[in-house]
Amino acid sequence: MCRIDQKKVYFDKAVLQYITVNIMTEEKPSRLKLPKIKGLLVDLRELSINDAVDISRLMTYNISKSLWQVPYPYNVENAVNFINSCHRNFESLKAVNFAIQYKNNLGDVNRLVGIVSLKNIDSDNKKANVGYWIGEQYWGNGLATESVALVINYAFSVLGLEEISAYVYSENKASIRVLERNGMTKKEEVNEYNQISGRSKNIIKFAIQRRYKMDKLKF
Ligand SMILES: CC(C)(COP(=O)(O)OP(=O)(O)OC[C@H]1O[C@@H](n2cnc3c(N)ncnc32)[C@H](O)[C@@H]1OP(=O)(O)O)[C@@H](O)C(=O)NCCC(=O)NCCS
Repeated sequence: MCRIDQKKVYFDKAVLQYITVNIMTEEKPSRLKLPKIKGLLVDLRELSINDAVDISRLMTYNISKSLWQVPYPYNVENAVNFINSCHRNFESLKAVNFAIQYKNNLGDVNRLVGIVSLKNIDSDNKKANVGYWIGEQYWGNGLATESVALVINYAFSVLGLEEISAYVYSENKASIRVLERNGMTKKEEVNEYNQISGRSKNIIKFAIQRRYKMDKLKF
C-alpha cells in the first residue's frame, strides 16, 4: 500500500491542471490533439509518423510475444499502419495511444522508448483497457510503472472513466508487478487461444476503479 502513497507525486495538481488546460483551450479543433502529460521519469505525447522507425526497431521478439496479436518481425510499414490507426481511433475516441519519452534518454529525450494505450474505450459504461510496452534496453527503470500511473490518472480525471482493466499473461511477472504497483487487483484468470503464437495461455484480468484510486490518493 505504501507503494501507492509514494506515487502520489505523479498525481499532483500541477499535472492535472496541465492536462485540463490542454483539453479546454481547444474550442473547435480541426483535429483532436492529445495533451502532453509530464511525469517525473517520462513524458507522454501524441504519436507521430516519425516514430515509425523507432517503433519497428524497438519491437523485439521478447516484447511482441507478451502482447496480444502483435506480429514479429514488426517492420516500418506495420508501425506506420499502427500509428495511422491510433490517429483514427483517437478521433472516434475508441482508443488513446501515447508515445513514452524517457527524460534520462542520453540519445535523445524526445525519442519514443515505448507506448502506453487506453484501448476498447467504452464511453457508455465508462471503462477501458490499458496496454503498454517499453523497449528492452530501457527495462527496469520504472518507466512502465510511471507511464501506467499517468495514463490511469488521465483516464479517470480527464476522460471521466470509472474502471480500467488490463489483461496479462500469467507468466509475465514484470507486467503483473507494474499493475500491482498501480493498485490494480486480480479479478479473474482465463485460458485463451492466441492465433499468432498458436498456443493457449493463461490470461489474468486486473482492474482498478476510480473511486478506489481517489480514496487512496485523497485528492
Ligand atoms: C512489462 C514491461 C512493460 C515492464 O516495463 P519496465 O519499464 O521494465 O517496468 P518497471 O521498471 O516500471 O517495473 C518492472 C517491475 O517488474 C519487476 N520485474 C521485472 N522482471 C521480473 C520478473 N521476472 N519477476 C518478477 N518481477 C519482475 C521489477 O523488479 C519491477 O518491480 P519493482 O519496481 O517492484 O522492482 C516490459 O518488460 C515490457 O515491455 N514487456 C513486454 C511487453 C509487455 O509485457 N507488455 C505488457 C503486456 S500486459
